[in-house]
Amino acid sequence: MSNLKTYLSVCQNRVERALDARLPNENILPQKLHQAMRYSVLDGGKRTRPLLTYATGIALGLTEDVLDAPACAVEFIHVYSLIHDDLPAMDNDDLRRGKPTCHKAYDEATAILAGDALQALAFEILANDPSIQADAAARLKMITTLTKASGSQGMVGGQAIDLASVGTKLNLPELENMHIHKTGALIRASVNLAALSKPDLNPAIAKNLDHYAKCIGLSFQVKDDILDVESDTATLGKTQGKDVDNDKPTYPALLGMAGAKQKAQELHEQAVESLSSFGSEANLLRELSLYIIERTH
Ligand code: IPE
Ligand code: IPE
Ligand code: MG
Ligand code: MG
Ligand code: MG
Repeated sequence: MSNLKTYLSVCQNRVERALDARLPNENILPQKLHQAMRYSVLDGGKRTRPLLTYATGIALGLTEDVLDAPACAVEFIHVYSLIHDDLPAMDNDDLRRGKPTCHKAYDEATAILAGDALQALAFEILANDPSIQADAAARLKMITTLTKASGSQGMVGGQAIDLASVGTKLNLPELENMHIHKTGALIRASVNLAALSKPDLNPAIAKNLDHYAKCIGLSFQVKDDILDVESDTATLGKTQGKDVDNDKPTYPALLGMAGAKQKAQELHEQAVESLSSFGSEANLLRELSLYIIERTH
């Protein structure tokens, strides 16, 4: 197995255990809500954001146990964003991670509440999880980083732009702005939460990591747009062709397929360039950037 493949499988198992341990047991009241949270979080997804948190930590010489909590916090926000993104009021999707979407498996109200509760849980973890070794000031910076990445000037803002752009024609800077917010912000936070876990990190290194994260955050959504056209529902685990159906502005729609692929490649090269001050300790980050643009789902 390649370096990355071994890392992916070991790390995905670690993430699964860490998420499971932090989710409320489904026998605790309100049971249906807790079941819906566990249904949407567990046993699915590529876990790209947690993997980025761990890979950044490894590049900085941190141990994985101090990264479990930030990795889970980002994944909980991500899953909440997916549950809400799939609702009829938003993208109206029936399939997610190869299973019925949360509102299909349960009901709309439960899906809304499951998303809300996962969001709250993410911040509770950053505030209280005993595995975080960072001091109170660094913890506060982590909370601020994740709130900004999630809120109206981060993911939620990007989702608002996405919904407002249905049926309109965005130009390239507008499309990039939408993608940087709806998807890029949380991916950037996955890297920056690990950087904040390292005491006294050199600000120049933090800046390079942030630039890496900005590039892959955008390439991730460019590739998501490409896969929506080129892949198939079984491979994706979500309905293929929804962007065209929902009349969404996307990179392939604006630049053509070749142009979108070139954009993803350029962003990957810029991401790797941002890591030039690192040696082999950042190889996983380099490989993850390539994985993001070469993945099949
Ligand atoms: C899908 O994210 C939604 C986007 C932000 C593009 P992922 O492709 O990371 O979905 P999972 O977590 O692997 O299911
Ligand atoms: C979703 O973008 C971004 C967030 C969930 C924040 P998409 O709507 O393209 O994601 P998919 O394709 O449904 O996973
Ligand atoms: Mg959407
Ligand atoms: Mg969607
Ligand atoms: Mg998509």
